[in-house]
Amino acid sequence: MISLNNLRQFKADGRKFSCLTCYDASMAKAMEIAEVDSILVGDSLGMAIQGRDSTLAVTVEDMAYHTAAVRRGNQHAFLMTDLPFMSYATLNDALVSSKTVMQAGAQMVKIEGGAWLSETIEVLTRNGIPVCVHLGLTPQSVHVLGGYKLQAKTREAADQLIADCQAVVNAGAALLLLECVPAQLGREISELFPNVPVIGIGAGLETDGQVLVVQDMLGLTFGRVAKFVRNFMKEQSGETAIVDAFKAFHLAVQDGSFPAREHTFQVEL
Ligand code: KIV
Repeated sequence: MISLNNLRQFKADGRKFSCLTCYDASMAKAMEIAEVDSILVGDSLGMAIQGRDSTLAVTVEDMAYHTAAVRRGNQHAFLMTDLPFMSYATLNDALVSSKTVMQAGAQMVKIEGGAWLSETIEVLTRNGIPVCVHLGLTPQSVHVLGGYKLQAKTREAADQLIADCQAVVNAGAALLLLECVPAQLGREISELFPNVPVIGIGAGLETDGQVLVVQDMLGLTFGRVAKFVRNFMKEQSGETAIVDAFKAFHLAVQDGSFPAREHTFQVEL
């Protein structure tokens, strides 16, 4: 099973790693066969599985249920799980929520925010819970951000995001996930932290790993498709099509052909 240390080693070796969201055992098994490196049990399940219009209604129990199903289906990938909206608002909430998803099979929890999470990160890490911090477009704050849109578009906003990354890394964050930020910023942050792997979604080609929501990359998103999505199902056919789509994603991340320029936000900072 891939560990956090393996991800750190991948970064040190310059080997890009793949990550997909996953919520059930059969997709998890398909990802195991395709050798996808890591899985995020994302609170995007609120939209992708539960049909809601945001992630806000997802509960810790939902996350634990899907984490356990995914872990049963996949013994290969590094597995991280989102702590959902308001489940880490206090230190005690963060500990109790993390205990639930770690006992369900997660190897790491992911929380959304910035420097203000420092104490939470320190306490979780001290208690044996590795933490990934999701920055940039943070869907749990959609009503503060005013929609799902590109973040850190100016040098000043980019520097603020870098300062947040620095603070959470100082507090012990072991992984960073950047969503919807200029490609240049994705590169700058990945270069800044040699020991902390950075996963991107709409954060350019030069982050250490790439993640996509599984429904998006299988072409199961009906409606507006984000710029950073590529449909890997298009080129597949036959009964192994889904596994082949996962393999194609994994290989495209490794060989640097995904994301292409058209999937990235090119903003001069
Ligand atoms: O919940 C999720 O699926 C995520 C991805 C968008 C990275 O956080």
